[in-house]
Amino acid sequence: MVYFLSLLALSLLLPTSSFTQTTSIDVREATISSIHSSLFSGLTTCRGIVSAFIARIERFNSDINAIITLNPDALSIADSLDESLSRGNATGPLFCIPILLKDNYDALPMPSTGGCLALNASKPAQDGPAVRAFRDAGAVILGKSNLHELALEGLSVSSLGGQTINPYDFTRTPGGSSGGTGAAVAASFAVFGTGTDTVNSLRSPASANSLFSFRPTRGLISRAGVIPISYTQDAIGAIGRCPLDLATALTVMASVGYDPADNVTSAIPPSVLGTDYTSFISQGVRANLTGIRIGVLEGFFNRTASNETTPVNNAMDNVISMLQSHGASVILINDTTTYNATSISAQMDVQTSEYREMLNHYLSTDNLTGPHPRTMPQLYTRNQSTPEFLVIPSQYSYVETALVSSTSNASYYLKQSLIANLTRSLHATILTNKLSCVIYPEQKNLVVPIGSPSQSGRNGILAAVTGSPVITMPIGFSPPSTTAPIGIPVGMEILGLPWSEGTLLQVAKAIDDVLHARRMPVTAGLNETVEVTKAYTQVPRVVPLGAKNIDKAAYPLGVY
Ligand SMILES: *[C@@H]1O[C@H](CO)[C@@H](O)[C@H](O)[C@H]1NC(C)=O
Ligand SMILES: *[C@@H]1O[C@H](CO)[C@@H](O)[C@H](O)[C@H]1NC(C)=O
Ligand SMILES: *[C@@H]1O[C@H](CO)[C@@H](O)[C@H](O)[C@H]1NC(C)=O
Ligand SMILES: *[C@@H]1O[C@H](CO)[C@@H](O)[C@H](O)[C@H]1NC(C)=O
Ligand SMILES: *[C@@H]1O[C@H](CO)[C@@H](O)[C@H](O)[C@H]1NC(C)=O
Ligand SMILES: *[C@@H]1O[C@H](CO)[C@@H](O)[C@H](O)[C@H]1NC(C)=O
Ligand SMILES: *[C@@H]1O[C@H](CO)[C@@H](O)[C@H](O)[C@H]1NC(C)=O
Ligand SMILES: *[C@@H]1O[C@H](CO)[C@@H](O)[C@H](O)[C@H]1NC(C)=O
Ligand SMILES: *[C@@H]1O[C@H](CO)[C@@H](O)[C@H](O)[C@H]1NC(C)=O
Ligand SMILES: *[C@@H]1O[C@H](CO)[C@@H](O)[C@H](O)[C@H]1NC(C)=O
Ligand SMILES: *[C@@H]1O[C@H](CO)[C@@H](O)[C@H](O)[C@H]1NC(C)=O
Ligand SMILES: *[C@@H]1O[C@H](CO)[C@@H](O)[C@H](O)[C@H]1NC(C)=O
Repeated sequence: MVYFLSLLALSLLLPTSSFTQTTSIDVREATISSIHSSLFSGLTTCRGIVSAFIARIERFNSDINAIITLNPDALSIADSLDESLSRGNATGPLFCIPILLKDNYDALPMPSTGGCLALNASKPAQDGPAVRAFRDAGAVILGKSNLHELALEGLSVSSLGGQTINPYDFTRTPGGSSGGTGAAVAASFAVFGTGTDTVNSLRSPASANSLFSFRPTRGLISRAGVIPISYTQDAIGAIGRCPLDLATALTVMASVGYDPADNVTSAIPPSVLGTDYTSFISQGVRANLTGIRIGVLEGFFNRTASNETTPVNNAMDNVISMLQSHGASVILINDTTTYNATSISAQMDVQTSEYREMLNHYLSTDNLTGPHPRTMPQLYTRNQSTPEFLVIPSQYSYVETALVSSTSNASYYLKQSLIANLTRSLHATILTNKLSCVIYPEQKNLVVPIGSPSQSGRNGILAAVTGSPVITMPIGFSPPSTTAPIGIPVGMEILGLPWSEGTLLQVAKAIDDVLHARRMPVTAGLNETVEVTKAYTQVPRVVPLGAKNIDKAAYPLGVY
């Protein structure tokens, strides 16, 4: 009652024109600091900010199909933050920052579907630790984004969500598997969003949507409360619009520290605990590239000229000459035998040995409520009459193998020793050449068209198996075409030694200060402002396109 009265009192105090005044805030390309200045200067309220993002989602989600569900609590969370603000208690680095979660993160009160119809009603009993950290930091969880089903490929098509569409070119995929987050953040549906990465999945959507992302060092961030694939390769992180927002998201996610629910976090060095990653980035100060040594992995390019590869090579060559002209030393790493993404994937990818055990564990705990399969084999039960999952043809053998493989297979130990050797080689390359980092394109070619069998040409496997941290950043666009009015985004990975996130953020900031490559999408008016025309009394329902926009011949449901 007191709460209701205070809201009423607040609304009576505002002038009659206040509705438009407090809600017409322009959230295109919003950052944490731009939201905070609008909010703390009194230009708008938290409810006004959340409403502005909801209005964009209502207007544009039918174009790009990026959202699976909106959080029914988003407006009441905004109201309670407005109440804190009115009491002078606006605390937390993410105070009133609207964010989206990939739909494999457990977050109350929404289901955690992984984009899979079989998990439509699978609800977590509590937030995962990273989600709890976001809430404690003041974030408003706006909803959940689509992904490649169960994060197993990079096309961002799922049985529950359907196909997410690249906002820069409606004929292309948004990368993946965190493609819903990538497309949504590019379209300014939120300030930033989360993803997961088993091989490429935080980096491919950043690359394909002109965004930044981080994949943390293995062990830095607890993966508990996230639908798993691989103990060795899984990582969770964020996709955003600028290095400073990433630094804030990383600081919050890493604040969980050691978590017994994910024993990989026992690796965190005490000196890294509690790091404020924003301290590595000076706002408004141009970072300095002079004297920095950066390696280029020559084996991670496809130098065969074509419309799909040349724009990527040109963008990378442009970065390399820019680095040299700004006083950086660029060292070409010519060992294309060790650094060959195709052969690393073929020899060392351990997902199929770990998937069944990890998913069985996730599905079987009491932390999940609601009807759902309790094991991985149950999830993949062939049922032609009610197809509840999607396995694309290029994944058939993946699922077949995962159903019968385990971490006690001899092949698993061989792969782990090859990974240990690759990790030593990588660290030796960086240390011998005194590098701050190595760079290479995230994908050797442009992000693939909708309907393609796989997201080919990606280089994420090196960091995935070695557990290395990576910042991905926008470095340019392909030439414009009829379907891509400003071209298709191209992204670069910046990889470093374990626990070097601060250095990598500094390098990304220094490069971005010169390039400023990020641009917002313009297709279908995505670059236009959206007025909030009504006071939302409840969060609108978003219905994903689901199987309706999937080519059923290319992506048969429930058959493998
Ligand atoms: C201020 O907000 C923080 C975080 O929401 C909360 O823990 C604390 O109790 C609040 N303090 C007061 C005085 O309301
Ligand atoms: C998912 O489940 C909800 C609640 O049971 C139901 O309303 C909805 O139609 C289902 N969605 C799909 C796509 O099956
Ligand atoms: C289940 O949730 C509880 C409470 O948050 C947590 O302590 C526990 O580690 C979780 N279990 C798993 C398997 O994630
Ligand atoms: C760490 O966690 C994994 C996955 O839950 C488990 O298989 C492994 O036995 C644990 N290791 C130790 C040393 O506790
Ligand atoms: C940039 O860094 C180099 C090497 O650390 C230093 O010599 C130079 O003075 C710096 N330049 C500026 C403008 O800070
Ligand atoms: C390199 O690019 C060419 C031209 O797009 C393509 O035909 C070829 O398959 C690519 N090679 C690899 C190894 O991906
Ligand atoms: C490559 O791009 C050019 C210019 O955009 C276009 O004319 C040509 O048809 C494209 N080639 C292919 C094989 O798509
Ligand atoms: C790689 O090869 C180029 C010549 O192609 C050479 O200039 C460079 O020094 C080599 N890199 C290393 C680290 O040896
Ligand atoms: C990389 O490895 C693949 C598969 O093992 C091989 O076909 C290809 O020729 C290699 N590329 C280079 C540049 O060595
Ligand atoms: C397949 O779905 C139908 C309809 O829901 C159900 O009756 C049947 O038991 C299912 N079969 C299997 C093998 O799960
Ligand atoms: C790893 O490297 C060591 C030292 O070079 C070598 O003896 C060993 O055979 C390598 N392991 C594998 C699995 O290739
Ligand atoms: C949006 O982009 C289109 C196409 O580039 C351009 O004509 C229009 O002026 C832009 N609108 C805004 C508000 O920037």
